[in-house]
Amino acid sequence: MNDLNKFKRYTVTSALPYANGPIHIGHLAGVYVPADIYVRFLRLNDADVIFLGGSDEHGVPITIKALREGVSPQDIVDRYHQIIKKSFEDFGISFDIYSRTSNPIHHETASAFFRKMYDAGQFIEKVSQQYYDESTGHFLADRYITGTCPHCGYDRAYGDQCEKCGTSLNATDLINPKSVLSGNLPVLKETRHWFLPLDQYEPWLREWIIEGHKDDWKPNVYGQCKSWIDQGLQPRAVTRDLDWGVKVPVEGAEGKVLYVWFDAPIGYISATRELTPDWEKYWKDKETKLVHFIGKDNIVFHCIIFPAMLKGEGSYILPENVPANEFLNLEGEKISTSRNWAVWLHEYLEDFPGKQDVLRYVLTSAAPETKDNDFTWKDFQARNNSELVAILGNFINRTIVLTHKYFGGKVPEQGILTDSDKLTLEGMGQFPDRIAKSLHGFRFREGLSEMMNLARLGNKYLTDNEPWKQFSSDPGRVATILNISLQICAQLTIVGEPFLPFSMKKVRQTLNLSPYKWQDASRLDWMKPGHQLNQPELLFEKIEDAAIEKQIQKLMATKAANEALQQKVPVKPGKETVQYDDFSKMDIRVGTILEAEKVPKTDKLLKLRIDTGIDQRTVVSGIAGYFKPTEIIGKRVCILVNLAPRKLKGIDSQGMILMAENPDGTLNFVTPDEGSVNGADIK
Ligand code: MF3
Ligand code: ZN
Repeated sequence: MNDLNKFKRYTVTSALPYANGPIHIGHLAGVYVPADIYVRFLRLNDADVIFLGGSDEHGVPITIKALREGVSPQDIVDRYHQIIKKSFEDFGISFDIYSRTSNPIHHETASAFFRKMYDAGQFIEKVSQQYYDESTGHFLADRYITGTCPHCGYDRAYGDQCEKCGTSLNATDLINPKSVLSGNLPVLKETRHWFLPLDQYEPWLREWIIEGHKDDWKPNVYGQCKSWIDQGLQPRAVTRDLDWGVKVPVEGAEGKVLYVWFDAPIGYISATRELTPDWEKYWKDKETKLVHFIGKDNIVFHCIIFPAMLKGEGSYILPENVPANEFLNLEGEKISTSRNWAVWLHEYLEDFPGKQDVLRYVLTSAAPETKDNDFTWKDFQARNNSELVAILGNFINRTIVLTHKYFGGKVPEQGILTDSDKLTLEGMGQFPDRIAKSLHGFRFREGLSEMMNLARLGNKYLTDNEPWKQFSSDPGRVATILNISLQICAQLTIVGEPFLPFSMKKVRQTLNLSPYKWQDASRLDWMKPGHQLNQPELLFEKIEDAAIEKQIQKLMATKAANEALQQKVPVKPGKETVQYDDFSKMDIRVGTILEAEKVPKTDKLLKLRIDTGIDQRTVVSGIAGYFKPTEIIGKRVCILVNLAPRKLKGIDSQGMILMAENPDGTLNFVTPDEGSVNGADIK
């Protein structure tokens, strides 16, 4: 279990979050809180450890977000990288570096990695059929395409992965594929790409994982890997037809970039290069233990594809362990960035200032280590009030307050020990090793619950011995009780630090302790008689119903908004049949809006100047509620030009712009395709 003697150093990575949204509690519980606990624990043990993080800034999740917002991918990643980085810092995730994959050093590292494998002939170059959206002119890889998962039937699987069952897919595996860009059925079109022949790595993966890591990898991780390998591995394209990403460093590969899942994990290596010139020992020395903290949707990439890349490249070590977690739900429903069903870290930090440790505590107690788990605000409140406040805070606070009250804040001497004292000292002596064992084994919930058992032991000791009732009759006895209680407090500051760094730092200041190491936790006499304490600081406070109600209300509002969005107004029924002659009387032309202004004293009307190809004319249109004049100047439209002129608010309107009206009454322009000129006849 204890591998501190087996390894010289540790490289600990945490999945690089996509910079297309802020961090939420699902990310924290699954990846960053456990990773942070682990590295804080290792540091307390004097281990040589680096903790790597960074933003994943390539890939379709980013470009789709940019497309939807009408901004550039760089704008998106700049915005979210800042938000994510700051919220991690404020939350106490103690990265040695938080980098980003748009950095030049990353492009260089990823590019060299690809090139080395390419030169060694490790890729298969293949022209294959890929889905293509003819209406927008894009190849549809990864999240640009959705469809039904052939394994589990989930109908919103992506072209590279089904998020429901976790299976890694090729876009051509999807049933009923649909372009995310247009909703259209895509066509197949030829394109040339480089493939990583995963099938060739199969015997090696079998030996390395199925035989080699049967006992030390978590059952959920091991099980997923085994089932993939047993299903048979296929060559996988590692390049894409996109213009956002790391350019494929090969001649004749213009317009192609590395697949995001090829470049992103190399980001761990780039971050290390950025961190220290002495980076190689963290990646190339067999005495380094490499550990990847990830969520379950990342298992195939970290256990199969990235290791195959590392093995193929040839100079790197492989992960020793990949302690992936399952998912955290929120109030019984799957967390979703797009549906805004989440507790966002940056909002939590604003709503609950100074309460980082409360969230760390709750997310660790409810960590989805072996199965999906649920976060609820009621549970958050209960754990704060009845565990952090009533047990841990209460014990430490009572001990320190009583020491100030009876002994002027100086650690009192132990007298003769009773059986209860001896039992308590013996009991506390066992905690550090027990907690260490849990943490080495990535069982963070178990470690936290042991830490709380230590606080319970202290709390019970104090309550059973009631020092506040004995001071006048037996001050010596009270001295012993408080001495022992203070030893427990000191021990708690050490074993509690990885879980609750902010609060334990306060306790350390109050106890006036010098820096310490994990092994100091086993000392039962650390608080020396006569040592002066400082005044206590508030550790935890009760969270009232009102604060919880506010959060629940916020979620209710999200739910209502989502439901409103779902409630589709029915489409209007069809109209009666007309003859072609009726239709052909309409003279409809392609035109361009040259000028637009609001008609004074109306809410609805815009006065437009239109180039119809035939002439320039004025049209009054009832669209002011939907469009600003400046937005639509230059817009290409369809216009009915032979509609009898009408006077509207004193203006002669000569024609009508065609609009598409949605069932809910919202309007959009009917915009002609590129290539049609003003005056083109619509028929
Ligand atoms: N951005 C990915 C996700 O959020 C994780 C990338 S992890 C890395 O699922 F290894 F690729 F960096
Ligand atoms: Zn599936």
